[in-house]
Amino acid sequence: MLAIIGGSNLTRLSNMDVLERRVTRTPYGDPSGVLSFGRIYGQNILFLPRHGYAHSIPPHRVNYRANIWALKECGARRVISVASVGGIRPDLNPGDIVIPHQIVDYTWGRANTYHDGGDMPVMHVDFTHPYDEELRKKLVLAANAAGIAIRDGGVYAATQGPRLETAAEIDRLERDGAAVVGMTGMPEAALARELDLAYAALNPVANHAAGRGQSADGVHFARLGEILQEAMSRVRAIIEGVIRLS
Ligand code: HPA
Repeated sequence: MLAIIGGSNLTRLSNMDVLERRVTRTPYGDPSGVLSFGRIYGQNILFLPRHGYAHSIPPHRVNYRANIWALKECGARRVISVASVGGIRPDLNPGDIVIPHQIVDYTWGRANTYHDGGDMPVMHVDFTHPYDEELRKKLVLAANAAGIAIRDGGVYAATQGPRLETAAEIDRLERDGAAVVGMTGMPEAALARELDLAYAALNPVANHAAGRGQSADGVHFARLGEILQEAMSRVRAIIEGVIRLS
């Protein structure tokens, strides 16, 4: 089954007929909310809002382990993660959608593995290519088929938040090769890999990153709700396309 993890501005999938909402508990605690089971184009889909239905869980407090565990336990085999980002690369503007191919992780202090001692054996999961290439390709194909422009590839920098970055931090991320910056991509992607879930991401650009473009003097979110809302309708269309391709 395909699972969607929704980020800010995507707390439900308007194109999904919800059949069931299920409260799930995991050995790692509770996921961010009830899991919604539904159908799109006749296919079973699972949906979970990363920050909770009331958008009350900040990025550093998301129980990533419980979320990914719950999705796996409920039958997910593939996960599309939707998470808005700041654009670092100069050719990225608010509203653009990036399908990243690599990650640099700057987060700290998050529960980032299931193999944390105790009964679990030590495991060093391969993470050379953090996103599932087949699912990534499907996202690209679906976007192309729907005539939706996307950026195929880019390095996602995962920062701790919840504060935004300084201009100098963004300069450093750019020197490290990052195209976009967000706060929720890790440890989500690594945990999905540990549980053998095919994981890929759709990252709508919410704003120019700190110190860049319209954010030269600060990141102002005032106008961005509208831009993201519109980007999310394209995100939904890409997800529909993936389902039709499956
Ligand atoms: N930085 C980090 N995370 C983000 C940003 C940003 O500029 N925009 C949306 N999520």
